[in-house]
Amino acid sequence: MSRKPLMVGNWKMHANHLETIQMVQKLSYRLDGPDYDRVDLAVAPPFTALRSAQTVIEADQIPIALAAQNVHQEPEGAFTGEISATMLAKLSVSYVIVGHSERRSQFLEDEALINRKAKAVLAAEMTPVICVGETLEQREAGQTDEVLIRQVAGALSGLTPDQVAGLVIAYEPVWAIGTAHSAEPDDVQQRIERCRAVVIDSFADGGEHIRILYGGSVNPGNIGGYMAKRDIDGALVGGASLDPDTFAMIVRYWT
Ligand code: 13P
Repeated sequence: MSRKPLMVGNWKMHANHLETIQMVQKLSYRLDGPDYDRVDLAVAPPFTALRSAQTVIEADQIPIALAAQNVHQEPEGAFTGEISATMLAKLSVSYVIVGHSERRSQFLEDEALINRKAKAVLAAEMTPVICVGETLEQREAGQTDEVLIRQVAGALSGLTPDQVAGLVIAYEPVWAIGTAHSAEPDDVQQRIERCRAVVIDSFADGGEHIRILYGGSVNPGNIGGYMAKRDIDGALVGGASLDPDTFAMIVRYWT
């Protein structure tokens, strides 16, 4: 099963709309046609910069997809401060990050909510990037697989095999995020294989097609080690995606 690698830059709460335009343009200058044949590339700027990113991507015909960092689970209504999936789709957003560990821990998002968000994203014809991963405490208690199985099964509950085949999971061990302590590629391969097995159990072929990324202190020096693994289909990159030079080196992991 060949799955096209996907690299996603999660800019978190960094970059205003003007900085975003510059970052998208700089990134595009460092990549060319054949690069986009080998990998799919997306950036996730903050909500306030999506419209500007869309404008520059369309004007300059840049083959970088847009991703959002979060979404509300309802289509519309009295939810002050929230953004719906249809609003994102209208801005040509292709991917929506759902259930990032920062949202699980700081905004108390649980499996049921993440599942509803994933369904809202799919209903608006975008692709959820569902984040899963254990904390250091859970890892040290030997609960990693159990946590991953619960998070994957919870997020995908009630989806059809076709819906599952098109979506993206990102395995981001919480202890590896923003710490410079990246996980060992062998360990990541094993965990991702486990996640894929859970998906195959419930959704048959969907599990073979689904792209599963690694995230957690990815940099130009360690990306090659992950991409050499059979089940690792790309990366969700935080800090290192803020510098277009560095991010371009990660995207071109084979050079
Ligand atoms: P870092 O790459 O900064 O560790 O962040 C990973 C992450 O949380 C991406 O969503």
